[in-house]
Amino acid sequence: MVHQATVTAPVNIAVVKYWGKRDTKLHLPTNSSLSVTLDQDYLCSTTTARADAAFKKEDGSPEDRDRLWLNGNEETIAGNGRFERCISEMRALRTKYEQTKPDATKLADLPLRIASHNSFPTAAGLASSASGYAALTAALAALYELNTFLPSSPAPAHLPIPALSKLARQGSGSACRSLMGGFVAWDMGAHADGRDSAARQIADEAHWPDMHAIICVASAAKKAVSSTAGMQATVATSPLHAARCGVPAPGAPVAAYASGRGLVDGPGGTMAQMQDAIRRKDFDTFAEVAMAESNQFHAVALDTRPPIRYMNDTSWNIVSAITAYNTLVAQRTRGQRKYAAAYTFDAGPNAVVYALQSDVREIIELLLALFPFAEGAAHDARTGMQAGER
Ligand code: DP6
Repeated sequence: MVHQATVTAPVNIAVVKYWGKRDTKLHLPTNSSLSVTLDQDYLCSTTTARADAAFKKEDGSPEDRDRLWLNGNEETIAGNGRFERCISEMRALRTKYEQTKPDATKLADLPLRIASHNSFPTAAGLASSASGYAALTAALAALYELNTFLPSSPAPAHLPIPALSKLARQGSGSACRSLMGGFVAWDMGAHADGRDSAARQIADEAHWPDMHAIICVASAAKKAVSSTAGMQATVATSPLHAARCGVPAPGAPVAAYASGRGLVDGPGGTMAQMQDAIRRKDFDTFAEVAMAESNQFHAVALDTRPPIRYMNDTSWNIVSAITAYNTLVAQRTRGQRKYAAAYTFDAGPNAVVYALQSDVREIIELLLALFPFAEGAAHDARTGMQAGER
């Protein structure tokens, strides 16, 4: 019998950025973050995980290792620490499940074959690791039938999202936010074991249906400095990052990173402002905080020694165009509205522009007239995740 599960997980794009880890193994962050989960009809990762005793090696002998295909190409798992950790954590949970339920099929010891596909450029700063690790974790949980085993299942038929989210975080930090739809906060937490560093849905996908995300692919090339390497260079060297996270100096000890301090988590900081703006559906504040956050994140990257530059000339031209457009909107509405568009850039040159439904068409026309994008499309900023059939 074939044991297989397929899960699709969406991309999320942060409006308060995660940048820096206080624990590099568990992916515990130096600040909280907040993102919007995009509609998975457009940007998503789909992962199939299969366990089978009949898998054979090329020479016909029984398979003795796990294998992984990413966008159709086989990848080496050995040495890919975070991938190996994800698989071994999920396998350990299945082993426990089999011990508590002796009639369960013995799957934990079977070799795995995993195939994952992204519907967008991988590692170009479009949050591929977020959707990728969310889909991987959820696919293994579905394969291993961990829905009734892991805590916090809303109902036995559902995947246990909060528990999965913490497991996905160990694959890639931002992945913990991709297991929930709508607007999702990731609270940095204070405990060394990460038990309180978890994602939390602050508003679901139906909360602000007018909110759209326009994805502008300025370059599909792989980024020069990975987020993982970049953020740790920042933690070690940037005084600006220390101020952002409320610690005295670059490279501050782990214990110094406690939530409730700094520009992001401090009282009245960007996390509090953004959550409030989302709850009130206040686009002006949402836009102001999102753009300031994006600017501060890239300033912190540039403050790293040696500096890290993720935005390119096209990115900066998009910033100018959106700034000019917002000025025009403020004039047109005689100051009734401050902003109609909010740009944000992750660790790459590609822009995501948040806008309300009524302005989306005009903004896309403007962007497409000004820039030679490889792709330009508006996507609903709402989603959930689906467990595929087994
Ligand atoms: C700029 O989640 O990719 O997109 O935990 O090392 O896998 P790892 O990093 P990753 O970093 C994402 C950084 C960001 C901001 C964000 O999504 O919050």
